[in-house]
Amino acid sequence: MPDKLTDHSQIENALRESEERLRVIVEASQSGIVQIDIKGLIQFANRRMAEMLAYPPEELIGSLYVGHLHDSERSGASVSLGQLASGEVDHVCTERRYLRKDGSEFWGYLSGRRLDGPDGTFKGLVCTITDITERKRIQDIMVQTEKMTMIGGLAAGMAHELNNPLGAILQNVQNIQRRISPLLNANQVICDEIGLDFDLLQQYLKKRGIDELLNHITTAGTRAAGIITNMLAFSRKGSAALEPTELSQLIDKAVELAACDYDLKKKYDFRTIRIVRKYDMAIPPIIMNRAEIEQALMNIVKNAAQALAERQAGAQPQITLRTLCSGQYAIIEIADNGPGMHQEIARRVFDPFFSTKEIGVGTGLGLSVAYALVVNNHRGLIKVDSVPGKGCKFTVSLPFNPGGTQ
Ligand SMILES: Nc1ncnc2c1ncn2[C@@H]1O[C@H](COP(=O)(O)OP(=O)(O)O)[C@@H](O)[C@H]1O
Ligand SMILES: [Mg+2]
Repeated sequence: MPDKLTDHSQIENALRESEERLRVIVEASQSGIVQIDIKGLIQFANRRMAEMLAYPPEELIGSLYVGHLHDSERSGASVSLGQLASGEVDHVCTERRYLRKDGSEFWGYLSGRRLDGPDGTFKGLVCTITDITERKRIQDIMVQTEKMTMIGGLAAGMAHELNNPLGAILQNVQNIQRRISPLLNANQVICDEIGLDFDLLQQYLKKRGIDELLNHITTAGTRAAGIITNMLAFSRKGSAALEPTELSQLIDKAVELAACDYDLKKKYDFRTIRIVRKYDMAIPPIIMNRAEIEQALMNIVKNAAQALAERQAGAQPQITLRTLCSGQYAIIEIADNGPGMHQEIARRVFDPFFSTKEIGVGTGLGLSVAYALVVNNHRGLIKVDSVPGKGCKFTVSLPFNPGGTQ
């Protein structure tokens, strides 16, 4: 009898030890681990999982697993769960977007396996989830940089080739305008020489709208020249000196430039937009190529103004400009309360020539140029966050220590 008791407590001890060991391993894991029952409810979540989702662990238990996924993932996750439940597959490995308690999102690499009961029936799932947000971000930058290098090289090559013929077109239009102008004495002299009535010629040109036709050529040519300048910005490694620049002044200048551009085009009225400034005046000046960053910010502000012009009547159109410090970076945020954009568009906005605007309004170069200037030339970061219907926020991060900039 005493022997049996000892056996019993030894077994209990061994069990307890083994349970403790398992618990320590599961809790020490750098990956989130969750167990999900057949109804899709979370039955167990380790500490890391709770940390990643930013929930108190006890609140996770009993919650619906798919409830922690980003909207865009839910249908895919339901399909996977169905396949696992039916036995069509016994495991899944995929990347998914998850939501934290506060609604912010992160990317997780999910590896899920089906749990079977002793009789082979489906008992639920065990999933391991690793936060890969940082890896995704770096991957995105690399893909974008690769795209920029490829298309940028092509664009720059084309721009150089187009520059000369375009220059010739614009210059020759100017020459023609001069040679038919009544203001130039030489024209009158030639007319007299060949016995042509210069006044009659003027009348003819006027009646046939020649002046206007020439102006159209100049306008179209100037627009093309603007596009070419942007295309050249991809390959140009700015040679201008780097200078310490006060961010608040720089942003104000960019807004001013964007506003002038609008006034010139008279398409949208910048004055109806309320500009809210929330500058952190304690940020030290940042070393940069001032003209480049100004151009990048101006492109972003112009887009915001264009987006605001499209929005339906409602709250007053507003652009909020904010600066702050975050670790190694000075951050500039430009937010508007316009129509915003869907995720599929947000993914492509930095692509050269990507535009949702009518031909003639958008060239799709504004943000790709901003990207090239901020990321490639200044080792900074640029990203967009948007909630469709609510607006857009562009974040430009510039390193305090740009060591090796350009
Ligand atoms: N603030 C914004 N709100 C909504 N959409 C935007 C905003 N900024 C940029 N976009 C989208 O990004 C696209 C690309 O912008 P950009 O590169 O400047 O080219 P473009 O302005 O010539 O179209 C725009 O066509 C638009 O769809
Ligand atoms: Mg634009």
